[in-house]
Parts: sequence; structure tokens; C-alpha cells
Amino acid sequence: MKLSSRVDKMKPSPTLALAAKAKELKAQGKDVIALSVGEPDWTTLEPIANAGIAAIENGQTKYSPAAGNPELRQAIVEDMTSFLDKSLAVENVSVTSGAKYSIFAALACILDKGDKVGIPCPYWVSYPTMAELCEGEPVFIQTQAANRFKLIPSELEDALKKGLRLILMNSPSNPSGMMYSKDELAALGAVLKKYPDTWILTDDIYSRLVFSTPRAPHLLQVCPELFERTVMIDGASKSYAMTGWRVGWAVGPTNLIKAMSSYQSQTVSCAATFSQIASVVAIKEAQELVRESVKSLEKRKDHFAALLRDIPGLEVHEPDGTFYFWVGINAFLGKSFEGKKIQDSGDFSNLLLESENLVAVPGKEFGIDGYLRMSFAVKEETLTAASERLKSFIAKLS
Ligand SMILES: Cc1ncc(COP(=O)(O)O)c(C=O)c1O
Repeated sequence: MKLSSRVDKMKPSPTLALAAKAKELKAQGKDVIALSVGEPDWTTLEPIANAGIAAIENGQTKYSPAAGNPELRQAIVEDMTSFLDKSLAVENVSVTSGAKYSIFAALACILDKGDKVGIPCPYWVSYPTMAELCEGEPVFIQTQAANRFKLIPSELEDALKKGLRLILMNSPSNPSGMMYSKDELAALGAVLKKYPDTWILTDDIYSRLVFSTPRAPHLLQVCPELFERTVMIDGASKSYAMTGWRVGWAVGPTNLIKAMSSYQSQTVSCAATFSQIASVVAIKEAQELVRESVKSLEKRKDHFAALLRDIPGLEVHEPDGTFYFWVGINAFLGKSFEGKKIQDSGDFSNLLLESENLVAVPGKEFGIDGYLRMSFAVKEETLTAASERLKSFIAKLS
């Protein structure tokens, strides 16, 4: 039977597909190293897990209100009020089943058919598909390696002149790991102020996983006047190692938040009740533990950076946050491995897997070819072994 045209737009997530391929090879007994994962390798921080278990034991296993558990919404309000130095109310917060659903619901509530969505490259793989599923039209905005893959005001303005309904921003970024400074955000904000019909969606899911400061700076800290057309997305997945609990949230103007909660009520009802209760503990009591996780991540990042720098021809862009390395492999495009020509990052990634059992995600999946994304949320010895495999593969290219 025929399926809808929507299905044609639904490309399967390439990162999940690679993770599945790695699992399959492992099941065949191959010694695979997967640097494709998009989640911490540690389990949910203990006080949070205990709060979830207690919630289940106490029978908090029924539906919650569609907009979220009131205590969690209040915890988010308090956190964001102090972060932004702006008074907010629970009506500014909608809790969803994962941050991914917050992004989807926001797009569904903002976009009409054919509306243009600005997506800076490299981008998180789900943005273009989600925009298309909501009948929007992605407008890709190229960034430059020289600017550390961050948008500069002239690039933003050129895109805005095309009549964007919404612009997506993600700092620190998956996949580049780059974070905007307050000054850079202020310069972009000055441009955004000139285009009052454009919504701004900031995906802040990695904002606490940054190395130089406890939290990534936010556009609204420097341009608070953009609040009425900005929706901020965050969630429990990455900071608190809660990817499987499925809790995300959106903070924004009340009309959009109300619409998003209604949209969720008619599609997934609500986020899991006990997960929301555990997330209250995450926000209120786990910040010290998050800093410890970040310290351990930073050690791995430094370890991997030193190893990668030792590989001739590799372009190493050290991340400001997240757990991803974005490395340039342009020097190897056009070379061959055992007679097979490497045309793009997809070929490089496939042959790397074939030859060394090492999984890295090709940059072309993120909108820029000539790069690989490698997760460093794995043990240091795994990073050492991975870098040796990468070095050995590169040495075999002719
Ligand atoms: C940039 C970015 N945004 C959002 C998400 C979604 O997170 P979740 O739905 O697990 O909260 C992810 C997950 O990989 C991500 O990398």
C-alpha cells in the first residue's frame, strides 16, 4: 500500500545507522571501536537515578500534565531566571519527551508550508529532516574553518535577507564542538534585531558540557530584547547522562509554549512522569557532579587531541565543549586505499571501518564534506587504540 510523501523526506538518522552497523560487526566477533556514539559512556548520576527509582516505587507512574510536571517546570524557571537574569513563569516552560521532540514541536508550531529555515553548517543531522517534516525549506548557511565553523554576522545577514522564518543556532555545536563567546553572540544579535519576523531557536543541549566555563553564554544574555521570538531548547540527556529517560524542555514566549504543549498533548501526551521527577533532582542537586563529569571529559579531550595532532595531514579542531572532535581529512580526499579511490568523507569512513574496524561519522552527514566527527565519550585507552587505527589507515593511503 502507498505511504505518504512525508515518508520520502524521512531519511534515517545516519549516526544511529552507523551505531547499528558497529553493533552488528561486534556481534560477529569483530573488535570494533565506535566513535559514533552521541551519548556519555557513564550511567545516570546516582542521586538522579535514585530519585527515578523512588518515584516509580511511590507510584508516580501516571500521566503528567502535557506541559510537564509542575515541580520540574518550576525548577527550570528558577534555573533560567537566574541564568538569564530575567523573571520567567511556568507558562514560559514546556517539558517534552526529549529535547528532540521540543525542537520538532517548536518547528511544527512555527512553520507554515514553504517557510525557510536557516541551518548553519555543520549542523546536527536531524535539523533538516525535522524542518522538512514540518513542511519548511532548509536554507543551509556555510561557515568557514577559519572562523572555527561559527557563523559570522555577514553570513547570518545574507541568510536573513532570503526571508528566513526561523534560524537554528546550536552552541556548543554538535558536530563541531565550537561555542560562541558573548561578544560573538552580541554581534549576531545586532543583526537578528534588524529582522523582526524571524524566530530564533537555540539548541542548548550541550550548554553545560563546556570546558572553560560552567555554562555556555546565551544570546539572550546579551540581547534580552529578542526573548519574544526566541525558543531555547535544553534537556536532561547529555549533561546528566539521561539519554534513555527522555526528558527535554523548551523555554520561550507563552504563546509558543502553550501551542507546543497542546501539540505534545495530541501526539505523545507527556514526558515520562518518573523521568521528570528525576530531572528535578538533576537540575537542583547534580551540578557539582556535572562539573566532575566535564573534568573527566576534558581529560579525554586533551588526551585525544595530543594523539590526533601526531597524525600527519589531519586537521585538528579542538572543541570548546560537547564530546565530539571535528577533524579535517581534506588532505586525504583523492587518495586511494587498496585501489579504491576516496572521493569524500563517506568513502573515508566506510574504508576506515572496513580496514580498521573504527567507526567515525562522515562530515558530509552534517553538511560539510572533508571532515569526520569522532566522539570522545569513551575510555582513554579506547581513544589511544582509535588514534592508532586511524594513523595506520592513513599510512596505507596512496
Ligand atoms: C544537537 C542536539 N540537539 C538535540 C539532541 C536531542 O537530545 P534528546 O532528544 O536526547 O534530549 C541531540 C542528541 O543527540 C543533539 O546532539
